[in-house]
Amino acid sequence: MSDFEYANAPESKAIAKISQSYDLFIGGKFTKPKKGKSFNTINPATEEVLAKIAYADELDIDIAVSHAKLAYTKVWSKLPARERGKYLYRIARILQERAREFAVVETLDNGKPIRESRDTDIPLAAAHFFYHAGWADKLEYAGLGNKPKSLGVVGQIIPWNFPLLMLAWKIAPALATGNTVVLKPAETTPLTALLFAEVCQQAGLPDGVVNIVTGDGITGAALVNHPDINKIAFTGSTEVGKSIARSISATKKSATLELGGKAANIVFEDAAVDEAVEGIVNGIFFNQGHVCCAGSRLLLQENIMDEVLEKLKKRMSLIRVGDPMDKNTDLGAINSLEQLRRIKDLASTGDSEGANRWSPECKLPTKGYWFAPTIFTGVSQSHRIAREEIFGPVLSVLTFRTPAEAIEKANNTMYGLSAGIWSDKGSKILWAAKQLKAGVIWSNTFNKFDPASPFGGYKESGWGREGGRHGLAGYLTSDAKVSK
Ligand code: NAI
Ligand code: MG
Repeated sequence: MSDFEYANAPESKAIAKISQSYDLFIGGKFTKPKKGKSFNTINPATEEVLAKIAYADELDIDIAVSHAKLAYTKVWSKLPARERGKYLYRIARILQERAREFAVVETLDNGKPIRESRDTDIPLAAAHFFYHAGWADKLEYAGLGNKPKSLGVVGQIIPWNFPLLMLAWKIAPALATGNTVVLKPAETTPLTALLFAEVCQQAGLPDGVVNIVTGDGITGAALVNHPDINKIAFTGSTEVGKSIARSISATKKSATLELGGKAANIVFEDAAVDEAVEGIVNGIFFNQGHVCCAGSRLLLQENIMDEVLEKLKKRMSLIRVGDPMDKNTDLGAINSLEQLRRIKDLASTGDSEGANRWSPECKLPTKGYWFAPTIFTGVSQSHRIAREEIFGPVLSVLTFRTPAEAIEKANNTMYGLSAGIWSDKGSKILWAAKQLKAGVIWSNTFNKFDPASPFGGYKESGWGREGGRHGLAGYLTSDAKVSK
């Protein structure tokens, strides 16, 4: 492809006021970590250091948890529910007002295209606060029993793929249900969480209701193991999810775990092919494929394979890879060098195990971490690229002959987070959806999110649901089960 069709359309960096260094946000104030340790967060598209970030250890976690506990017992649990709702509305509105600033900071810190942070991450984060603000004083009508009660202090650990959005998925329901939180963002993307701390101050949220502690896996483990945490909410790798499940197994702590996925995106012979191709592209190349529910296994009915692949390759040639701050960019930078290495390693097993790799011609920037949109054809069930989560812009293509074979292949995975079905027959869609072992199933679309819709997995994709009425249940104690 020649590059003359699009002139550069860079978003301005000036709107993001990133400080040189950030402290921990504990008890409503930014405070230095006790041992004064720090680490850098970088822009993965340029490798430039964006800011120095405080590193929280066990002692800092202890202080943060005690502030959260105090805020819970003295203030938050005593507040009338509608007052909690008011704070959430206020936060939602401030997020909307500062949306452009948040989008720029998210893109600089994460590497995702500004188009996605502007149009998806930030609006959805605000929507989660609006949605849960409405629930705060209506919990008795949520089908969770007569007087559902909050749990207390919740420890929340989030990944780097949707930093602010995952924060919203965690903090909004926790606060709406009357809990206080200590949240740890991922080490490569702490900036929007720290900006969110400023929003809490701006909204006048009582001190200690939200605490943000920055650090790595050791910091996260200290939070998980703190005795005064009543619940852990985690999103990240299945490996860490399992270790959290093990470490809380002998305690009274509850947990929701949102882990990995290897979703099947199934295209039946009667699907509208052009729409399906758009859905396939959105399913795997949205957010560089750093998506737990990404449609990373394409299951094509054999008789339409050639047509779909030809159109898919044509469409992939139009994907613009490069500067995430450019409003035209479709595919941004890989979030970290470690993740780039993981993607490269797994993709190379595709080569060595006999699958065929294809990428459109595209010029990758020399600085930063990049991976071209890639598909593998000739993939079989036993290949690692068909079984393991690559978490990058890499699609594995498999085929099937009959609908029953499609279901069998789709379910042949240790994961079960999401799935996609493309067909013009409503009855076939319902038939397939019923048999797919996946928490979220899209038909004739993909990667659609709404705060009212519960999200979560089967098998090794996790425990519990986030979002919607079902998501509230994870933050409340009650004898009653969620009614369907
Ligand atoms: P990770 O699971 O190590 O990190 C996620 C979060 O957990 C981060 O905040 C991290 O600091 C924290 N953490 C790490 N170790 C911990 C521990 N022992 N106790 C408590 N918290 C801990 O994920 P990572 O290393 O960034 O990515 C590795 C792979 O995991 C990716 O290649 C991808 O396949 C998968 N992943 C899946 C995600 C999802 O949304 N399903 C999100 C992030 C990663
Ligand atoms: Mg970063």
